[in-house]
Amino acid sequence: MQVIKYVFQPHGDDRGQLVSLEEFKDIPFRIKRVYYMYDTGQGVTRGYHAHKSLQQILVCIHGSCKILLDNGTEKKVVPLEKPYEGLYVSNNMWREMFDFSPGAVLMVLASALYDESDYIRDYDEFLAFIKDAQDVISDEGEK
Ligand code: TYD
Repeated sequence: MQVIKYVFQPHGDDRGQLVSLEEFKDIPFRIKRVYYMYDTGQGVTRGYHAHKSLQQILVCIHGSCKILLDNGTEKKVVPLEKPYEGLYVSNNMWREMFDFSPGAVLMVLASALYDESDYIRDYDEFLAFIKDAQDVISDEGEK
C-alpha cells in the first residue's frame, strides 16, 4: 500500500511559523469541509470507518497521533507528528486514529460536505464493498 504524505511549505521567520493550504495547489482536491478533533481522551481510538467516495488530508496541527490505514488487504500505521505534514486518505480506505498526545489537535480537510450515507462503519461491509468495487474493475478490464 502506498502511503501519501505531503510536506507543506512552512513560511517561517523570527516571529514563528505559518502554513497555508490551497485547494488544487497544496491539496489535491476542492476543500469543501474542514473539521478538527481536540480534547481526545487518553487511550481513545476514533474513526473505525471508510468512505465510499470522500477524500481527506489529515494534519495533526498540534501534538501527535497515529493513523491506521487499511485497504482491506494491507494495514499501515502512520505517525503524524508535525504541523506541516499531511496524510492523504483516499476513499475505500478503513481508518482508525489513536495514540493522541495530550492536547493534540487533528485537523481534517475533506473533499465533500458531511454525508452519513458516504460512510461504511461496519468492517465486514467495508470488505464486501471493496471486493465489489474490485470485481467491477476486473470486469471492465475483461471487456
Ligand atoms: P464521528 O464520525 O463519530 O467521528 P470519528 O469518525 O472521528 O469517530 O463523528 C462524531 C459526531 O460528529 C457524529 O455525531 C457526526 C458528527 N459530525 C458532523 O456533524 N460533521 C462532520 O463533518 C463530522 C466529521 C462529524
